[in-house]
Amino acid sequence: MAYETLIVETRGAVGLITLNRPQALNALNSTVLKELLQAYEAFQDDDAVGAMVLTGSERAFAAGADIKEMQPLGYVDVYSRDLMSGWDDVAKVRKPVIAAVSGFALGGGCELAMMCDLIIASETAKFGQPEITLGVIPGMGGTQRLTRAVGRYKAMDLILTGRMMDAAEAERAGLVSRVVAPERLMDEALEAAAKIASLSRPSVLMAKEAVNRALETTLDEGLRFERRLFHSLFSTEDQKEGMTAFIEKRKPTFKNR
Ligand code: CAA
Repeated sequence: MAYETLIVETRGAVGLITLNRPQALNALNSTVLKELLQAYEAFQDDDAVGAMVLTGSERAFAAGADIKEMQPLGYVDVYSRDLMSGWDDVAKVRKPVIAAVSGFALGGGCELAMMCDLIIASETAKFGQPEITLGVIPGMGGTQRLTRAVGRYKAMDLILTGRMMDAAEAERAGLVSRVVAPERLMDEALEAAAKIASLSRPSVLMAKEAVNRALETTLDEGLRFERRLFHSLFSTEDQKEGMTAFIEKRKPTFKNR
């Protein structure tokens, strides 16, 4: 499949998607959204792929939603087409996705990173929600996901002033899973994704589902949900294999069933 705004490839059991609009610092336009959904769906349906890495360029993960595409639109245009709602589907992909972030992750770029499950950042990464400086507010989940990630006061600071934070501050704030030297970024992300892809697929999918549920429900309901999923994994061959391999002091061979 030929993509106009993405480079899509596989590295072993890892699907690697690179945003590729260098002339616009990977600004997220409607073509990027359409193609990203296609790429996710293809990897979701591919049994040989266990996890994905989403990255941009050295200069920019993505500098936001495409301002040139949005600038002429009026209220009726954006309301009628429910502008940005398509990104909700990006966040719903079931296999784990690691964002490998170098350079700018601003506005929709920061929001896209937050739709991923791990954020691995180069020391050069800069995160921010500068929409307020354009006379709008975040529209791809920034006010909700950033607040859940870093708390109300840090989120207010970033969203009300539009300032950027560097990778070290983002890590301290809890937005970033790991910060690495620029030259380590892709190896670190691909190795983490390969590790996830090597594990039992049902337990990986359920772990992601359970962690995400923590953001949406009460502790009591979340604990019940976790326990039910935990119980259900005892119906898999991989549970027997994983625990037997531990006792026999050997590596497990998972069949993803
Ligand atoms: N949309 C469209 N084009 C963009 C863009 C964006 N979000 N960000 C950068 N570009 C384009 C620039 O217009 C420029 O194109 P031209 O050469 O044709 O003029 C090219 O990318 C390079 O950018 P700069 O010359 O500005 O590069 P710089 O190094 O001087 O600055 C930057 C880099 C600080 C990231 C600056 O480009 C910038 O501030 N970008 C916009 C960031 C922003 O406001 N993002 C939020 C967008 S709104 C949003 O995302 C809404 C939402 O929540 C859904």
